[in-house]
Amino acid sequence: MVRLYTEHLQVGYGGQAIVKDMTLEIPDKKVTIIIGPNGCGKSTLLKAMSRIISHQSGSIILDGASISKEDTKSLARKLAILPQTPESASGLTVGELVSYGRFPYQKGFGRLTKKDIEVIDWALEATGTKEFKYHSVDALSGGQRQRAWIAMALAQETDMIFLDEPTTYLDMSHQLEVLELLQDLNRKQGSTIVMVLHDLNQAARFADHMIALKDGRVVTTGDGEEVISRRVLKEVFRIDAEIGKDPRTGKPMLYTYNLLKGEDRNEKENHADNFAYAGTCS
Ligand SMILES: Nc1ncnc2c1ncn2[C@@H]1O[C@H](COP(=O)(O)OP(=O)(O)OP(=O)(O)O)[C@@H](O)[C@H]1O
Ligand SMILES: [Mg+2]
Repeated sequence: MVRLYTEHLQVGYGGQAIVKDMTLEIPDKKVTIIIGPNGCGKSTLLKAMSRIISHQSGSIILDGASISKEDTKSLARKLAILPQTPESASGLTVGELVSYGRFPYQKGFGRLTKKDIEVIDWALEATGTKEFKYHSVDALSGGQRQRAWIAMALAQETDMIFLDEPTTYLDMSHQLEVLELLQDLNRKQGSTIVMVLHDLNQAARFADHMIALKDGRVVTTGDGEEVISRRVLKEVFRIDAEIGKDPRTGKPMLYTYNLLKGEDRNEKENHADNFAYAGTCS
């Protein structure tokens, strides 16, 4: 049995349901990547599974019990989340921001312990933000700020890390650095990583497991080959894609794509899966 799963989960805002009847498992010690169009409910799902928002019905089970019943500090020692748009950290230095990641381990008005300081320094080092430790968060570029937030999530030292579009604002090399860092945490420490990515090639490259969502429902789950297929991309994104193999990693790779037009756009399946991998390069 996996540590985290949902059953018939419904989440929304006001009376409206966004995530609908969702039953899914988050595989332990794997990198899971969620894909899907804007507005399909990816952030809503992540926020519900990390209890930033409460769910309307169904259940979210963590370690055999409803997440609603978990003590706040205990939950924060198990699961860290970097939201898509983190709250403002105005007036804080990067070091102070990252130190907030240690709150689940602090007692009363406790000062930072030696261990806390070591972990904060490790998180700064790992995300390449050590040089900004004493800089104001306000004075960072978008990408530097994003990495400072990732450092805060890492400083929480949890088995599970959720990240909602962690590569937004990052240049190509910093995108890869962050994704490789997360993969490293997974491979070396067995961390369970769940993230939302829009770049399908990066998703295919880094995912052990993928979840494709559309209109608040799961369209398909599986490994990169199962999810990054011509049929699934048609259904989920309404695009017609040429898919081959990344010559370096052997993972599925989109070469090019077009928007589906007219009837094709409404057609659910047209058996185009046969063409998947047709464009494999040598
Ligand atoms: N706080 C809120 N109050 C009301 N509606 C909301 C709120 N947050 C999100 N929504 C709505 O819920 C739907 C799903 O939003 P969500 O942020 O989960 O989408 P997403 O899949 O993460 O999209 P994106 O790729 O753009 O980040 C959208 O229609 C959005 O307008
Ligand atoms: Mg989102």
